[in-house]
Amino acid sequence: MSTIKACIFDLDGVIVDTAVYHFKAWKRLANHLGFDFTEEENEKLKGVSRVRSLQLILEWGGVEKSETEQAELADLKNSWYVEMIQEMKPDEILPGAKEFLLAVRQAELKTALGSASKNSRTILEKVGLIELFDSIIDGNTVSASKPDPEVFLKGAESLGLEPSACVVFEDAIAGVQAAISGGMKVVGIGDAQTLTGANLVIAGLHEMNLDKLYKL
Ligand code: BG6
Ligand code: MG
Repeated sequence: MSTIKACIFDLDGVIVDTAVYHFKAWKRLANHLGFDFTEEENEKLKGVSRVRSLQLILEWGGVEKSETEQAELADLKNSWYVEMIQEMKPDEILPGAKEFLLAVRQAELKTALGSASKNSRTILEKVGLIELFDSIIDGNTVSASKPDPEVFLKGAESLGLEPSACVVFEDAIAGVQAAISGGMKVVGIGDAQTLTGANLVIAGLHEMNLDKLYKL
């Protein structure tokens, strides 16, 4: 019998590819402030909270803003982002994500979301996946950003499980580190050279199945 009782999924980059919308909205904000940033710099924003992302972008543009101005700018970016995600459809679910979620539930394992996003419920509703999660822990419920394990520890707790019974699925190195320091197994989604420390690295959930899960 496997000791695995639940899977905890990051959202952006694991279940859906919202990175492109985040990029468009941040780019619009940077342009609004009179500068630009590259796609390469954008990679550094993966898994990073909204406010911290803004601070990094302001640093890249060499722009200083007060805390109040930062809050206003983060709100402005979010209003543009929210406008875009309103149009999201089920065909934006990443390959294999829905199938794996269904297989996990079929095997009577629990599912939770562990995301930094404050927009996770809207996104899951738009793509029609919200019913497949037993619990949703996101940017509205946590105070510490990944690599702090808070989001995943709260995920395990919300399911009434020990961290060691949970497997985390993450595309950001900060998220992989968060899972490890929370005492969980972790499957990296992306590149094995970047996602060091993960128990297994796959290109996407289309490469995942219950056999691989039980062997972790
Ligand atoms: C993470 C994304 O999932 O959520 C980040 O990878 C994003 O790019 C963060 O900044 C916060 O999201 P939101 O929707 O609350 O601005
Ligand atoms: Mg992610």
